[in-house]
Amino acid sequence: MAWLSRCLLVCISLGFLSAGCTAMGMPRPQPNLNFTVGVEGVVWCKSCRYRGYVKSRDASPLPNAAALLRCRNGNRALSVWNSTDRHGYFLIQTGKQAAPFTSNHCKVYVLRSPARGCRVAMKPAWKEGARLRFRRLVTLAGGMQGRFSAGTFVFAPHKRSKCYS
Ligand SMILES: *[C@@H]1O[C@H](CO)[C@@H](O)[C@H](O)[C@H]1NC(C)=O
Ligand SMILES: *[C@@H]1O[C@H](CO)[C@@H](O)[C@H](O)[C@H]1NC(C)=O
Repeated sequence: MAWLSRCLLVCISLGFLSAGCTAMGMPRPQPNLNFTVGVEGVVWCKSCRYRGYVKSRDASPLPNAAALLRCRNGNRALSVWNSTDRHGYFLIQTGKQAAPFTSNHCKVYVLRSPARGCRVAMKPAWKEGARLRFRRLVTLAGGMQGRFSAGTFVFAPHKRSKCYS
């Protein structure tokens, strides 16, 4: 039985490549595991003016900011939007249509701030996207998802105001 468990281990550690296991007469685990992509990030306003101000960051989370995952590879392109929650957090999840892309083909954009008083893009610079950094694999009902981070997006008011607390 040792070879059996070894094969199982190999199959698992190979990372979802089922071909090897099939060749050894093992039942094919799952036909084509469909990888999807999830990208998370947080949008901040460098100001104490808004709800949920975090003193250590000297910033407030921005809810309802639209975040765009944009991937391009040759003439194939993918755009998926989502918006931030009250903690400024967003998660953009693709379907299987992410297959032709790797993280290097993709960037995340927060093109404008939803807060009138906080419109200056500080990070990343104006209209520049953020690159994706791999974080972990998560198991979802439909298959595996590679989770990436786009980091933080920071806007600021035109004029910094003092905070009194
Ligand atoms: C949008 O965000 C919500 C909450 O995080 C998530 O459940 C949903 O899957 C996301 N939709 C897309 C298209 O990424
Ligand atoms: C992957 O996608 C194929 C084709 O859309 C589908 O038939 C199959 O059930 C999916 N596999 C998983 C594990 O979701």
